[in-house]
Amino acid sequence: MEQLIMKRNASVFEHGRRFSRHEDIEGYMISVFGEKFAEYRRRWTATMQRETLPEATPPAPYYLSVGLTNVCNLSCFFCYRHSSSMAVNRASLPIDLVRSLMAEAGEMGIDSLDIGGGGEVLTYPDLAHALELVANAGFKDVFLPTNGLLLKGDILGRVVESVTRINVSIDAASPETYRITRGGDYDSLLRNIDAFLDMRERRNLRKPILRVSFIVMRENRHEVDAFLEKWLNIADIVDFQDLVTYPDHDALQTENLPIAFSHCADPFRTLKITSLKVISPCCSGYSKYFEIGTYPEITLRQAWNSDIIANLRRDLWNAEYPLVCRNCRNRGFEKG
Ligand SMILES: C[S@@+](CC[C@H](N)C(=O)[O-])C[C@H]1O[C@@H](n2cnc3c(N)ncnc32)[C@H](O)[C@@H]1O
Ligand code: SF4
Repeated sequence: MEQLIMKRNASVFEHGRRFSRHEDIEGYMISVFGEKFAEYRRRWTATMQRETLPEATPPAPYYLSVGLTNVCNLSCFFCYRHSSSMAVNRASLPIDLVRSLMAEAGEMGIDSLDIGGGGEVLTYPDLAHALELVANAGFKDVFLPTNGLLLKGDILGRVVESVTRINVSIDAASPETYRITRGGDYDSLLRNIDAFLDMRERRNLRKPILRVSFIVMRENRHEVDAFLEKWLNIADIVDFQDLVTYPDHDALQTENLPIAFSHCADPFRTLKITSLKVISPCCSGYSKYFEIGTYPEITLRQAWNSDIIANLRRDLWNAEYPLVCRNCRNRGFEKG
């Protein structure tokens, strides 16, 4: 994992996109979460390069993304929720399906879980119950991506007990810019993060790991260095991301596609289920082209062993890239 140390008075872009106060953030997480975590991270890292992909299909995905809800308390102007393929019906997964999904994921031995989905997970109506199910499913790694504005009150303790990583998307270093990028109250967000860090310290814990992120855009670019300065010694990870501009996922391009294909590991390690219960092996906006079925009509195990995903793996492995994948790799990145 890329990890860089900031030199004082230097711009973030002279040093890279990920920063940490821990000299080796991967090693730090292994020291917090132990040998089983290290072993899963080794398998995970091997999927990053086509050359080191496991040739046989792993018996279970390494990563499950469960969209508890696509409802959100904000409406960030850049968010891909507004894109053609995601501006769908707003829905949350019923808690009885979360229960059976967690049971099946536990039986399969899936290593990691992301409960972000396409919205704000802290708006999920049965969150305390869902977090309890998550905590008992035996994952080695659980990510909770959030805008952080609802990370307070009774739910905070449950979050701290149930997840390994909290990823707070901020995209600003001042109340004025936060209002533009996210449309929320910056001071409330800072209070919530303080309360979380206090709780972690009072309980003498090093987890959940705190990652804060900043999508670099025209509207906030001037606060890049201030953001790093503010968070480098507070968060465990500070990430700067590119803005992804979403094309029309319904209109696949057939011309001007890149000849070189950058590796994609999703079908070799990932299953995603949306809040509309649709299962796919793809985390991009093009996942609708690889829908395997809806849960529980098709189980996670059946999805993982389905022909759709087997064919996709075979094509990627043989470098016969489907048009959908070539469109995905060609999607627009807007540098801030
Ligand atoms: C869709 S959000 C869901 C979780 C939560 N609501 C949040 O804001 O963190 C997941 C992540 O996607 C990022 N994101 C949303 N739209 C994006 C875009 N157009 N380009 C890059 N990242 C984006 C958000 O900043 C966030 O880190
Ligand atoms: S808070 Fe997250 S999901 Fe909601 S609009 Fe903003 S980026 Fe999208």
